[in-house]
Amino acid sequence: MTAAQLDGTAAAAAIREEIAARTANLPQLSLAVVLVGEDPASAVYVRNKERACKKAGIRSVAHRLPADTSREHLLALVATLNADPEIDGILVQLPLPKHLPEREILDAIVPEKDVDGFHPVNQGRVLLGDRDALAPCTPAGIMELLRRNGHDVSGRRAVVVGRSTIVGRPLAALLISQNATVTVCHTKTADLAAEVARAEYLFVAAGRRGVVKPEWITPGCVVVDVGIHRLDDGTLTGDLDFAPCAERAAAITPVPGGIGPMTIAMLLANTLRAGLLRRGLTE
Ligand code: GUN
Repeated sequence: MTAAQLDGTAAAAAIREEIAARTANLPQLSLAVVLVGEDPASAVYVRNKERACKKAGIRSVAHRLPADTSREHLLALVATLNADPEIDGILVQLPLPKHLPEREILDAIVPEKDVDGFHPVNQGRVLLGDRDALAPCTPAGIMELLRRNGHDVSGRRAVVVGRSTIVGRPLAALLISQNATVTVCHTKTADLAAEVARAEYLFVAAGRRGVVKPEWITPGCVVVDVGIHRLDDGTLTGDLDFAPCAERAAAITPVPGGIGPMTIAMLLANTLRAGLLRRGLTE
């Protein structure tokens, strides 16, 4: 079997165009992007987010702060952005420098502007099955990519490898809302091979390469690789070894060009949603 590719680049481009068509008929929407420090990967991500905003007709307002920015200064900036009527969405790029309390900073963003979907209120609404919640972008992007490729998880066995607050946990909640039967695996899972073998839909978000062996995957499974790693030779790869997994899967996401572009597309979608909600408008 050779897997169909779940093309995140194409789906993200289509979503950007849909959002651009909607923003063209709205007052200017604005996303504030806060980047603290010099982490090179974060700088690339932020630049990609700014570029995507522009293509979708959303103004991005970057706040680039030095690595030694204090907790008080960052909280004051978040408070200013919370109160700014010109700002629809706020994104604080992670990871923050070690001396800054990540959870406290993220919790300080008002839920209505939390376009990352990391605030406990938004995470809680996702868990409650609220379809209007600002859902975390990566899990939302995964669900949207499946939907656009005609995949319905209802009644299917879905296995999520990874229980992070950004991906694994909210993804499990979204899958349950769409009536999948969900298993969440993690570092203490007793028999990961057996759990993976039962999957009709497999989501690998372990953040480590090689956690799932290709031979564990049952032929015909739909495989979503959320990992992203840069190898020593500069190439990008996911958590999975792509070629042998693609041989078994019915469909699979590539890395790059799978979930990464979808995450950014959902950031735009959340910014649009936040802007509409704040103005009492609907999609
Ligand atoms: N760092 C890595 N992924 C993300 C993300 O989705 N949002 C933010 N704010 N930071 C990140």
